[in-house]
Amino acid sequence: PRHIAVIMDGNGRWARKRHLPRVAGHRAGVKSVREIIEASCRLHLEALTLYAFSVENWKRPRSEVETLWGLLRHYLHRELPELKRNDVRFQVIGRIDGLPAAVQNDLDVAMVETAANSGLRLNIALNYGGRAEIVDAVNSLLARARKLDGPLEVDERMLGEHLYTAGLPDPDLLIRTSGEMRVSNFLLWQIAYAEIFVTDKFWPDFHTLNLLEALLDYQKRERRYGGLGDSTKTAEPDRELVAVNGRETTAEPDAGELPSTPLRQ
Ligand code: IPE
Ligand code: IPE
Ligand code: MG
Repeated sequence: PRHIAVIMDGNGRWARKRHLPRVAGHRAGVKSVREIIEASCRLHLEALTLYAFSVENWKRPRSEVETLWGLLRHYLHRELPELKRNDVRFQVIGRIDGLPAAVQNDLDVAMVETAANSGLRLNIALNYGGRAEIVDAVNSLLARARKLDGPLEVDERMLGEHLYTAGLPDPDLLIRTSGEMRVSNFLLWQIAYAEIFVTDKFWPDFHTLNLLEALLDYQKRERRYGGLGDSTKTAEPDRELVAVNGRETTAEPDAGELPSTPLRQ
């Protein structure tokens, strides 16, 4: 995959299982964040998007929310040198102007200081909502139309270019920890054809090995995008041009010569 998106869920349940306060789960979750970012760098992944705080998460107790901002700031201070060393380009998606000023400031520093990096594109979703993102895109298209004073017809490409994720490929793989079978308002537009991997592991228990497990599972999927996919082509090869060992032929290949499936992106 070029782009992996993760719904990092289950910090609270991880803590409850240990009779600890919820915030202890968030603290433990930061370790998984570090580990998964490092693994993504080593795997030469193009983009990683982590869901850290949704527009709905403001419903939580104020103390929990404030602990989360504290943890984020602490993380940024401590990890920025490491992110730079790993050539990570740090970005945020979401309604960032709704975050506390000090948090916005730290995020700006991290973005500016990694802007020229060309390795992993790391996106953290903060005060993020998929519907809010689409609404923001529509409003920015409307504002542009008013300014240009021209007729406006929107197509998928234009809408995509006004999302927070403009310029990024859509996620190929969406991972959710803690077993919940829902998308919780995450990247609604962009996951149209993402493969979904849900694990029962709580986020603080999600390690590099679990990421590799998700990747292995992904490699076995057949992405059809509404078409008929590869298996139908190889099952009925007659009369179609079939590449055998790199050469195109109209002859029906015998089973032993069937081209092996190329490793998918
Ligand atoms: C995910 O863990 C982290 C955030 C939403 C910030 P939760 O805090 O949702 O953990 P659970 O789902 O209550 O276990
Ligand atoms: C999704 O988890 C949001 C993040 C991981 C930041 P939630 O815990 O907020 O989602 P629900 O409430 O279980 O749907
Ligand atoms: Mg949760």
